[in-house]
Amino acid sequence: MTDYADLLKADSGQPARTIELVDKDSFEPWLKQQGERRRAAIAAQKFAGKGYEYAILPGEKPDEWSVVSGVANVNSLSSWCLAKLAEVLPGGTYRLDGLETGPALFGWLTAQYRFDRYRSAKDETPAEPRVLLTKDAARIEAAVRLAQATHLVRDLINTPTADMGPADMEKAAAAIARRHHATMTVTRGDALEQGYPMVHAVGRAATRHNAPRLIEMEWGDPKHPRVAIVGKGVCFDTGGLDLKPSAAMRLMKKDMGGGAHALALAQLVMQERLPVRLHLLIPAVENSVSGDAFRPGDVLRSRKGINVEIGNTDAEGRLVLGDALTRAGEETPELILDFATLTGAARVALGPDLPALFANDDTLAQDLVGAGKKGDDPVWQLPLWDAYEDMFKSDIADVANAGEGGFAGAITAALFLKKFVPDGAKWAHFDTFAWRQSARPGRPKGGDALGLRAAFAILARRYPRG
Ligand code: BES
Ligand code: ZN
Ligand code: ZN
Repeated sequence: MTDYADLLKADSGQPARTIELVDKDSFEPWLKQQGERRRAAIAAQKFAGKGYEYAILPGEKPDEWSVVSGVANVNSLSSWCLAKLAEVLPGGTYRLDGLETGPALFGWLTAQYRFDRYRSAKDETPAEPRVLLTKDAARIEAAVRLAQATHLVRDLINTPTADMGPADMEKAAAAIARRHHATMTVTRGDALEQGYPMVHAVGRAATRHNAPRLIEMEWGDPKHPRVAIVGKGVCFDTGGLDLKPSAAMRLMKKDMGGGAHALALAQLVMQERLPVRLHLLIPAVENSVSGDAFRPGDVLRSRKGINVEIGNTDAEGRLVLGDALTRAGEETPELILDFATLTGAARVALGPDLPALFANDDTLAQDLVGAGKKGDDPVWQLPLWDAYEDMFKSDIADVANAGEGGFAGAITAALFLKKFVPDGAKWAHFDTFAWRQSARPGRPKGGDALGLRAAFAILARRYPRG
């Protein structure tokens, strides 16, 4: 893994190239102060001071060049304002000219993420890392941890299912549990049939090696308040017998993105040693096709005892999460956060950049939205509109996993989950895309963490370390 800790250093006056930042207001006055050689360079590179634009500025000697870059507002830097530079500048050490680095440390790191596991020639990797100096050394550690968590999410999602099936998810979780002395419990294969019928049904068509499993991790002082983190770990979603068309199936290696978010959030909680009793739950399955696959019209008796008629085998995420949420509730947590690539409808409503957030507690929702805005990790709340429960009634069972009509798909999925959330627990559900369709500075195309930092921010605020 990229060693992010090597990419940020405390500024003790060591040699480094300077990066000047300008914005809409400061660009013209700044330009007037530049000498002729610099103005020629600025003109040649067509630098106009806009966000993410940059130019190399000549110094006195050939090796004395420096950098200027445009940002939205020099007085309020964003997480991403230096990310483009961290992608394009030659390897070496840099410092901001007279400005605090603030939240930009994070984007500096995530911009240098590469997924090159399957590239034979590693020539895209820069020969030399780009190092940023900061006077704000106290912020380095937090930025590094968030970048590592983001890296974990990206790697888990980008890895194809052949190398990231339920068994591999279990291994990834076990490695993290070991590092933090957490206890792991895994319920696998036939052992799920009694206690976790919906996890079993969704995953049972997969081969033996990738048998379905519920991965659980517990960590922390049992006397501390209980927090459950749950993630959808559908390692591949073919749709099941209600098979997805090829275009819709193409990206479904990412359907464990919720599980990746949950694991990364658990890692952050443990690294930061937040005073909570943590319970992580990842139902890891492959929604596959075989003679043993669950069928449309089948009725599953869930762990909670609710009978669920299968309207569509492609609405599998809510099934595995239903049993996992029930299990979480048995330990009476005061807070439950779940992450899932649950519906296409959430994407239709909000596009790929904004996870849909649902919560049964207004303060929790507001805190998450606020933390997202503040930390450049936005989430957007949608309502748990109870009246839409009518949309997934079953003719023969307590409820159906998918309704007819296709209205409000993200809301009905969240309402389905709500049936499995214990009374008394505060609960937030993130319906996230976990993927970037096109690269943005600091955020390469492919798997990505969305809503992770917002979630961690509210946990760190609610459960401050002593
Ligand atoms: N994993 C998909 C949802 C999804 C699709 C997320 C594309 C991100 C991108 C989920 O299991 C699914 O297939 N949901 C169906 C539900 C429907 C059958 C009620 C959907 O959203 O179409
Ligand atoms: Zn599906
Ligand atoms: Zn799915």
